[in-house]
Amino acid sequence: MVSASDPRGFPRPELPELAFSGRSNVGKSSLLNALVGIPGLARTSNTPGRTRLVNWFRVEPPHGKPVAFVDLPGYGYAKVAKSERAAWRPLVEAYLGRREVLRCVLVLIDARRGGEEEEAELLEYLAQAGVSSQVILTKADKLAKAKRKPAAAAVRRALGLPRDPLLASVEEPESLADLWRFLMRQAL
Ligand code: GTP
Ligand code: MG
Repeated sequence: MVSASDPRGFPRPELPELAFSGRSNVGKSSLLNALVGIPGLARTSNTPGRTRLVNWFRVEPPHGKPVAFVDLPGYGYAKVAKSERAAWRPLVEAYLGRREVLRCVLVLIDARRGGEEEEAELLEYLAQAGVSSQVILTKADKLAKAKRKPAAAAVRRALGLPRDPLLASVEEPESLADLWRFLMRQAL
């Protein structure tokens, strides 16, 4: 629909929104593309810091009403110029902190890495703002199957989550079915 570098460029709030957030390179844009089944829709890259703007995508599910997926720039990437890092927080907070149509923020964490200070801070910020969140462990294919459940339980404990995070891999499309159902429930 729209890309914005500034809150003045945000689209009118018309559709329920589901946002993809998390550290740079964690796989936000890839997951969005895998969910809608359109490779290359949101730009992805091996180079962290690919997504610099807030990007809205209108999604029309086969069953149910249209929603918007919102791809956010990632945080925590040191090589992004200082001026851009300084711009990240006001831009993302302007979106996360006062967007009445925002139904849920997916907080993506690399399954191999686990939750760290930034993730705890982001979850705390969302809770304070009264925005619902769901942690997703990405790149699950990089973990042996037997290590996945324990990894999810460890992140749950580390971040004090009410339930285990969902596991997702764009290399294993069947892992996305639960996530898709979850998202559609949030958008109701
Ligand atoms: P920024 O926009 O820079 O914040 O990054 P992003 O979070 O949007 O990450 P992006 O989707 O661009 O993916 C980063 C890299 O991770 C790319 O090389 C992807 O191919 C890779 N990747 C993403 N998801 C997966 C996954 O489920 N499994 C594996 N093995 N690689 C993945
Ligand atoms: Mg991206």
